[in-house]
Amino acid sequence: MPIAYDKTSQTITLHTDHTSYQMKIGPCGFLMHTYYGPRITGDMSYAIAWGDRGFSGNPYDAGTDRGISADVMPLEYPCEGSGDYRYTALGVRRADGPSGCDLRYKDHRIDSGIYTLDGLPCLHANEADPADDPSTLTVLLGDESTGLHVELLYGVFPHADTITRAARIVNSGKNPLILQNAASASVDFLGGEWDLIHFEGRHCGERTPERLHIRHEETRIGSRRGTSSHQNNPFVILADRRTDEDHGSCMGLSLLYSGSFCCSAAMDQFGTVRIAEGIQPERFDYRLEPGEAFETPEAAMIFTDCGLTDLSHKMHNMINDHICRGPWAKRSRPVLINSWESMGMDFDREKLLRFAKKASGLGVEMMVLDDGWFGERNSDYAGLGDWTVNEKKMGGSMKSFAEEIRSMGMKFGIWIEPEMVNEDSDLYRQHPDWALKIPGKKPVRGRYQLVLDFSRSEVVDAVFDQIAGLFDECRPDYVKMDMNRSLSDVCTAAAGEQSQGKILHKYVLGVYRFMEKLLARYPELLLEGCSGGGGRYDAGMLYYCPQIWCSDNTDAIDRLQIQYGTSFGYPQSTFGAHVSAVPNGCTGRTVPFFTRRVVSLAGGFGFELDLETLTKEEENEVVRQIDDYHTYSDLLMGGLYYRLTDPVANREEAAWMTVSEDKSRALVSIVSLNRRGGQPLRFLRLKGLDSRRMYEDTESGEVFCGAALMAQGIPLLSLEREYEARRIFLREV
Ligand code: DGJ
Repeated sequence: MPIAYDKTSQTITLHTDHTSYQMKIGPCGFLMHTYYGPRITGDMSYAIAWGDRGFSGNPYDAGTDRGISADVMPLEYPCEGSGDYRYTALGVRRADGPSGCDLRYKDHRIDSGIYTLDGLPCLHANEADPADDPSTLTVLLGDESTGLHVELLYGVFPHADTITRAARIVNSGKNPLILQNAASASVDFLGGEWDLIHFEGRHCGERTPERLHIRHEETRIGSRRGTSSHQNNPFVILADRRTDEDHGSCMGLSLLYSGSFCCSAAMDQFGTVRIAEGIQPERFDYRLEPGEAFETPEAAMIFTDCGLTDLSHKMHNMINDHICRGPWAKRSRPVLINSWESMGMDFDREKLLRFAKKASGLGVEMMVLDDGWFGERNSDYAGLGDWTVNEKKMGGSMKSFAEEIRSMGMKFGIWIEPEMVNEDSDLYRQHPDWALKIPGKKPVRGRYQLVLDFSRSEVVDAVFDQIAGLFDECRPDYVKMDMNRSLSDVCTAAAGEQSQGKILHKYVLGVYRFMEKLLARYPELLLEGCSGGGGRYDAGMLYYCPQIWCSDNTDAIDRLQIQYGTSFGYPQSTFGAHVSAVPNGCTGRTVPFFTRRVVSLAGGFGFELDLETLTKEEENEVVRQIDDYHTYSDLLMGGLYYRLTDPVANREEAAWMTVSEDKSRALVSIVSLNRRGGQPLRFLRLKGLDSRRMYEDTESGEVFCGAALMAQGIPLLSLEREYEARRIFLREV
């Protein structure tokens, strides 16, 4: 039974294939969290130490029992006002002033099948594995003084070793309430030495792992930008201090949310570590009228005691099997060429067609027309919001352009940025109140654009109708949906004072609704997410977009670090990675063509350069690159990914490999980062092979035993120059 209720011990235990998660209805009806870790049986509350602790107050109904305190108990959904002074999942204020509530267990229900959330992404059953039946636990908690009810939702996906969580918060009282915090998940670990691994970054430098010791002061990361952001990522890891790639306990927590978020981790006064993640409480002030409900975004959790690589494999499978949807979720993607890095907005039809013709001649399968094709969009300063074709620049309609591309044997893709508007646009001139702005204050501009108020459904619908009007004619096969600034001036003209604290969340719901409408209208569409590169690389976006543009930085050496960091929480099938020109526009670095191929070979492979400028030999290399993608695409889409080095700590070389599920094939990639004279002999130990099988290096014909490749490794002598790459394809013989 994946969900078991034991009446005698009052425990509810969720079991996946390898893990267990337990809660217990404790004294005074507090819902305690008693365990998350490798699979167990029995009541885990023996680990809780009870006792009278000074300055940890007691609930009134505990009477004279001073050992009961919400400040000390491990709790499932801690709330502010119950006497718990740690970071709490729930914060509620009454509209007439006082804040605080005290949630107690009321009831629970176990259902087969998985819950859904209204307008929010959440995990679905894996159609390819009908035996992996997910089930749902709903626990009802209530607060007597306000009438607030909280339904804690848990989804159990046994084969994926995944537990999901969300909360539905209902104002069942008679007076309005203001939600000030509503986390998706909070987990307490009794004892232990833990680290928080999170992924910091910036535009052009996303997702570098940072490992922080959790101490008594609170560690808080998150985003206040209205998007999940380049700066922090909503996927985090809580790892035992001794955990490394191959050993140790760790828990991955991935929030399916693309807006502002917050993750808090801290050790309390008695050594319990609490980690909580959810919507960002800052600037969240969500008024609930009597009878109204709020649903939090979903959080997906995976625990393993086999190290970070195993955690990543499970995260990857979870995303591939339970988050990505639609026809492209697992299918190899068309190799594309994108116009952006070679021509920006400076093009006309003739230039584009020449560009496309060259690409199709070399075997590229899709031409993507990036920014610059609409309204008066010839620079960053105008046009966003006017999704009508600039027929002068395009030399005719988009339909006729798409037809010409298709006549070359290629698919047609197009760029949009629906959430944005330039002040110099017809849309803004007609509807200045559709942009987020604070009355009387000049708005902050970002890339010279303002943000459309996607918290309003009429704005979402109007932009959608404009874009769909065009897409109905030209029927793109692929859309790159971009978003190029952080939100500011978060104020809607549509509602009064009382709704302002809802906007950031409703904005995200508007973005999700836009994408859902797009996919419903064009079910075959391949949607790629993008936010100035990887500013919205999160599990929420992956529910709509099976691939996301990793970064605006296409320098292969910088990308090694970006893709390394991304791989902890996200599969390479979701990486948008393109071979671009040198010297690189972002770093000025010149990296060999072959190295650029090795680094870009991921799920969303393509090119970002002017193929007309290439030599004959370089053209041949392009043909080989495309061929490579087809040869290895099944590995890239579904193989097991191993990080062989840490390119952040180890500046000598970056290496990773992908092994087929049956361990019969493996692709090893190595890039030299730094060469010094008199280099000592070093070896790269491979991973994930079968130690008893023999493998042939298909290029040299040499045969090795799996155990040797993993124990002794391969010598790294052949890499002579900085930025040189080596690739080994191993096949079982
Ligand atoms: C940012 C994206 O990340 C780029 O690839 C490109 O599409 C530009 N926006 C276009 O404005």
